[in-house]
Amino acid sequence: MAKKRAVNLSGVPPGISRRDFIKFCSIMAAGMGLPPAFAPRIAAAITASKRPPVVWLSAQECTGCTETLLRTDHPAFADLILDLISLDYSETLNSGAGHQSEAWRKEIVSDNEGKFILVCEGSFPVKDGGIYCQIAGRPVVEILRETAPKAAAIIAIGSCASWGGVPSASPNPTGATAVDRIIVDRPVINIPGCPPNPYNFLSTVLYYVTFKKLPDLDSRGRPRFAYGRLIHENCERRPHFDAGRFAEQFGDDGHRKGWCLYKLGCKGPETFNNCPTLRYNDVGVWPVNVGHPCFGCSEQGVGFDEPLFSPARPTYITPPTQFAKARPDGGAGGSTLAAAGVGAVVGAAAVAAGVSLGKKDKDHGEE
Ligand code: SF4
Ligand code: F3S
Repeated sequence: MAKKRAVNLSGVPPGISRRDFIKFCSIMAAGMGLPPAFAPRIAAAITASKRPPVVWLSAQECTGCTETLLRTDHPAFADLILDLISLDYSETLNSGAGHQSEAWRKEIVSDNEGKFILVCEGSFPVKDGGIYCQIAGRPVVEILRETAPKAAAIIAIGSCASWGGVPSASPNPTGATAVDRIIVDRPVINIPGCPPNPYNFLSTVLYYVTFKKLPDLDSRGRPRFAYGRLIHENCERRPHFDAGRFAEQFGDDGHRKGWCLYKLGCKGPETFNNCPTLRYNDVGVWPVNVGHPCFGCSEQGVGFDEPLFSPARPTYITPPTQFAKARPDGGAGGSTLAAAGVGAVVGAAAVAAGVSLGKKDKDHGEE
């Protein structure tokens, strides 16, 4: 148990109320699978630390991962992230481009060697010497190889950087591949998703800033606090799955009643992510609760590899963690929790509670 201590919050980022800031730190603690007592420590790290410099490389991508970070609110996430880190180099946001941009990257890397966090967005083409994605006439894969050894930590954000994603889908004409296939001599933190939940990215950075070490990772390099459980374990439609009640077609009676989307191709049973508990857009939504099957966007070998509407391979079925069994009348006993719009706070806390109950990693089959 972390000791409670007084925290000087004079460094609360401008534009954010003290109340929102404390709430934000509590959400982050819960998101990392830590007890609420760690919130003051996170707050202290945020307010005391010199902002870690970040170099953000963009390869073959759609900018969706950057967009998801910059378009959140409550609290103003763009403000927060830009106050927490020093985003010194970003190919999407830089005002310069090409040779100007490269000169700037070299200067930032040289001034901050061993101190900066390298964030990579997009997959890296390696076919034909990597000529299919270049900056200032240099293959971006060369820039990655040059930059990564000088970074303090490396994060691959999104499914393209984590697994190859859309650009690597068959027949993969550019030889697009993941960051950890290129940088093999040091750990790469994978935050997959298309796009990933921005809170998972921020929690990872905050964990590093607070504890000066990487979070616990699974065998695929994902933070366990975010990717330790199957979507299927926390889905509010799970009671219908267990009761054998499935939507057969989009718009049919079962679909409108909120029944399980397995027969419409839901990949929740083979996808590890915290979407049903953390949710999106600060309004408590995620794909399955608005009626779309999960297509496994964050899972290697599932999203972008399996056909969209083919049935999942439910190899890792585990009991539901937070929803009661279905009622005989077709209702789902516990789903009111989700229907009430639990949002990020309760959702993140549920993840934390789930972690403390024990989790299963599909690669190791370990509890
Ligand atoms: Fe939810 Fe999909 Fe599992 Fe059905 S198959 S319970 S919709 S995650
Ligand atoms: Fe992606 Fe499935 Fe979550 S499609 S956003 S992993 S619900």
